[in-house]
Amino acid sequence: MSNTVTPWEVKGKIDYDKLIEQFGTQKIDEPLIKEISDLTGGKLHTMLRRGIFFSHRDLNLILKDYSDGKNFFLYTGRAPSLGMHIGHLIPFVFTKWLQDVFKVNVYIEVTDDEKFMRNPDYSLDQTMQWSIENILDIIAVGFDPDRTFIFQDTEYIKNMYPVSIKIAKKLNFSEVRATFGFDNSSNIGIIFYPALQIAPTMFEKRRCLIPAGIDQDPYWRLQRDIAESLGYYKAAQIHSKFLPPLTGPEGKMSSSSPESAIYLSDDPKTVRKKIMKYAFSGGQATAELQRKLGADLSVDVPYQWLYYFFEEDDEKIKKIGEEYSTGRILTGEIKEYLADKLNKFLEEHRSRREEAKELIKEFKYEGKLAKEMWSKTIV
Ligand code: TYM
Repeated sequence: MSNTVTPWEVKGKIDYDKLIEQFGTQKIDEPLIKEISDLTGGKLHTMLRRGIFFSHRDLNLILKDYSDGKNFFLYTGRAPSLGMHIGHLIPFVFTKWLQDVFKVNVYIEVTDDEKFMRNPDYSLDQTMQWSIENILDIIAVGFDPDRTFIFQDTEYIKNMYPVSIKIAKKLNFSEVRATFGFDNSSNIGIIFYPALQIAPTMFEKRRCLIPAGIDQDPYWRLQRDIAESLGYYKAAQIHSKFLPPLTGPEGKMSSSSPESAIYLSDDPKTVRKKIMKYAFSGGQATAELQRKLGADLSVDVPYQWLYYFFEEDDEKIKKIGEEYSTGRILTGEIKEYLADKLNKFLEEHRSRREEAKELIKEFKYEGKLAKEMWSKTIV
């Protein structure tokens, strides 16, 4: 089956094993998971245990640097839009967990420039305003204000411009064009942009670990080609699968089809309605058939959302899987259960988002790491 996975487009049913081969990454296997568990005193995040983070590069080297006391840092990012959906939270929730267990610095790039240059319809005012709104959602995930720096490219550019032009000088157009599919109609801003997404991998002279969706991988392949020639480490990655859209297991959630996603701002009634009406079911067409044949969990979106994100209890998810796949429970019940879980999650998220309004200055300018970053130029 044909599929496309690039930073700007995800289409079709994704074969993740094939992506590992195609992108030349490594599968996260049991021994590696055990190593993480040993280093974190037995703690493992659901997203790691259940394999939504499924692939990596150099994670073993990151763990080695951590054990040797050299340490490492985390970097991830977001191209701001009007509203974030549940899928966008995956890298942030997982990055926060890594920060908690390893006590490391986190850099979060908010690319108001990328979003502006990529979309003919968006004004710069809009993407800068969305940055603030999205940053509140990111802070609400619970990062440590002293160890986290959240920056917008249009603001922090002066400090990161020197390293960015060093990176840009190493990348030639034919390579970048082949990686991202640019053509003669691409504006020259977006052609330079990859240098700006690579720059934060060089914010420290330690190894950088990037938790992100696999769609962002092309940037890191370029980074790895040039980093050492600039005196930095090749960046390490830990890649996630996509949380499937509500409407079916193909592609990724999209802002242009609101029924495909649950937004962080959706109220409880909307959440329930979207799930009941649109969530793609692996259950059978009638209750009778469902009782007889059971559901196909591999395509059932409500089950997958519970499995990958919202049901952290291993015993419970196992029981749900068994009962649903053997027809003892019906699609409607799974959907109800997910709607309740999601609404509880969103209620808590929104209350932390309110508190984030008081914290935004710390993360952007005044926290310990933010202050340090504003006082230096990255070269
Ligand atoms: P953006 O804003 O498209 O996406 C932000 C992050 O969310 C991930 N993501 C998903 N993960 C799981 N399930 C989904 N359905 C889903 N949809 C999106 C993306 O993979 C990404 O990690 N160019 C970047 C912004 C950026 C960045 C970075 C991202 C700048 N520096 C460093 C990651 C790491 C962008 O457009 O992300």
